[in-house]
Amino acid sequence: MKRVTLKDKTFELFIPYETLQTAIKELANRINNDYKDKQTPLFLGVLNGSFMFMSELMKEIEFNCEMSFVKLASYSGTTSLGRVSELIGLADNLQGRDIIVVEDIVDTGDSIEHLLRSLVGHEPASVEIATLLLKPDSYTKKIPVKYSAMSIPNDFIVGFGLDYNQLGRNLKNIYKIVDEK
Ligand code: IMP
Ligand code: MG
Repeated sequence: MKRVTLKDKTFELFIPYETLQTAIKELANRINNDYKDKQTPLFLGVLNGSFMFMSELMKEIEFNCEMSFVKLASYSGTTSLGRVSELIGLADNLQGRDIIVVEDIVDTGDSIEHLLRSLVGHEPASVEIATLLLKPDSYTKKIPVKYSAMSIPNDFIVGFGLDYNQLGRNLKNIYKIVDEK
């Protein structure tokens, strides 16, 4: 498929699945190399967006590991300013664990900042971020994103787990929004 329409927006093919697969394999090789001597690292996928990347990445991981998923629920605080994010689904004991957070995309970095703040309280041995995509021109935080499979410009994209109003997560390729000019 060259183009897809989701609600009121049209998207064009941007990153084919084969390219994603190659980039994910390269990233997995780096992680395999860095973690081979660690004690059962834990991959923590952030739902919903990370599910496809997580599945593809985990097939390439060659050391014994555990995996789990969490969700960042955003809601408007009743008394505080603006949005509050709560980390839900954290069932495991994280103390002393080597954690690799698996994200679909890091844009401004707000999400990973919230996440890390929650995780650090559990006293893990280490925490690193692995993201399929990074938007470096938009990223404003100091937190190092050690593992990113691909960097992309600031265009809005869908597919391979990423959505537009909850649609498009199932698409195998990644599509970029078409400028309506
Ligand atoms: P951040 O908190 O600004 O880094 O944004 C992270 C979240 O915003 C991601 O987990 C996505 O859910 C969403 N997001 C950012 N850019 C895109 C995009 O281009 N398409 C779809 N979702 C996006
Ligand atoms: Mg997300």
